[in-house]
Amino acid sequence: MAQASNALIRADALTLAFSSKVIQHDLSFDVMPREVLAIIGGSGCGKSTVLRALVGLHEPQAGRVLHGEHDLYTSPLEVRDDIRKHLGVMFQAGALFSSMTVGENVMLPLELNAPASRAQHERIAREKLALVGLQDSFEQEPASLSGGMKKRAAIARALALEPQVLFLDEPSAGLDPLASARLDALILQLREQLGTTVVMVTHELDSLFAVADRIVFLSAEDKTMIATGAPRELAASGPPPVREFLHRGRVAA
Ligand SMILES: Nc1ncnc2c1ncn2[C@@H]1O[C@H](COP(=O)(O)OP(=O)(O)OP(=O)(O)O)[C@@H](O)[C@H]1O
Ligand SMILES: [Mg+2]
Repeated sequence: MAQASNALIRADALTLAFSSKVIQHDLSFDVMPREVLAIIGGSGCGKSTVLRALVGLHEPQAGRVLHGEHDLYTSPLEVRDDIRKHLGVMFQAGALFSSMTVGENVMLPLELNAPASRAQHERIAREKLALVGLQDSFEQEPASLSGGMKKRAAIARALALEPQVLFLDEPSAGLDPLASARLDALILQLREQLGTTVVMVTHELDSLFAVADRIVFLSAEDKTMIATGAPRELAASGPPPVREFLHRGRVAA
């Protein structure tokens, strides 16, 4: 049960389901300030659903999602809206809007949430694009960007409102190792420069070992979390399925 704690977000005995089909049950973990927490597990085990539950888009069948002391699903609407404004989200299929320029994509959350002039929005959007190394892409069409650039532009959009917590669902999926490593560096840089807390889903082991402070491992078989801890700790002495997962393809490396 929730006690005094400096956790930013607390998942408290969550059960997540689609109608009668339980995806994951009894998930309890904290997200601590400035940590990079990775949610991992086999394909289809419910990682994206957990992420959506943490940001207010999937109501748990049981349990609570606490942001500070506020319950994300039962607090008054204005409290929930205020919480959501402090969260930046990049969804797994988080495409940019192709009918808008990269700059307009990044300005969109500002236009929807932050009353200010277009010039101010543009200044902030350019600043976020510079932060992710896309200072020259403001006027570009999304179609003209590489895969890695698209991901970074989507992160810039998620950063537009200067979120306290950034949620990234498979940010490096489909990227080559170099682009993936650059994205890892960007995540660490955001934490250093902005103090951003990051909750990410990833199946890239290199990325996991490079950036994650802690892992929550979801089991597809048991439909619950079977381990939590630092990546190296779990790789050395976690439960067998977790060790196996973390050593995939690393034996010959
Ligand atoms: N809208 C939905 N309605 C019904 N079932 C769903 C819905 N979305 C997801 N599911 C089911 O919930 C389970 C978990 O899905 P989820 O997308 O959270 O898994 P995941 O771990 O993110 O998968 P992946 O590794 O492929 O990204 C899957 O069995 C999926 O089929
Ligand atoms: Mg997913």
